[in-house]
Amino acid sequence: MITQATSNLGKSLTPKEILQEVEAYLIGRWTTDLANTSALLFQHFPNINWVGFYLTDLDPSKKTDTLWLGPFQGLPACTEIAFGKGVCGTAAATRMSQLVMDVDSFPGHIACDSRSKSEVVVPMIANQKVIGVLDVDSAELGRFSREDVLFFETIVQLLLAKNNSFS
Ligand code: SME
Repeated sequence: MITQATSNLGKSLTPKEILQEVEAYLIGRWTTDLANTSALLFQHFPNINWVGFYLTDLDPSKKTDTLWLGPFQGLPACTEIAFGKGVCGTAAATRMSQLVMDVDSFPGHIACDSRSKSEVVVPMIANQKVIGVLDVDSAELGRFSREDVLFFETIVQLLLAKNNSFS
């Protein structure tokens, strides 16, 4: 466990270096790990303007097809997104990562930050349930590649592997 900020903060790092940083910070507490992961990605992944998590309510007596804003870095964002709506809701409903080169060409895109031009959303699935999504936005058109999607999927896998209770 790392208790102090590293000297790398604010620097762009390679994907491998970012994975190492994220791994070093994970402690197996869900909210804590999501918070530090969003901060590390925001610090080190170049040219992004928003990164964070939307989470479902895990209490089965509540509606489980809504994404609620979780830990993030960037401008304040939409608090609630229904499954099937926007890029996040599409990732949650289809359980498939979404790579959007131009958000204006994505029907129903939800513009939380008008600077955002391209976006990646990766669903997070545990025990067959969608427990949330990782959302990453850039102010650059076509900022993200297929390799970037794989990278963010690896981040999600690390988070899920380290955590078995999600509160
Ligand atoms: N653009 C997202 C909404 C979340 S914000 O980008 C933070 C979407 O269409 O789902």
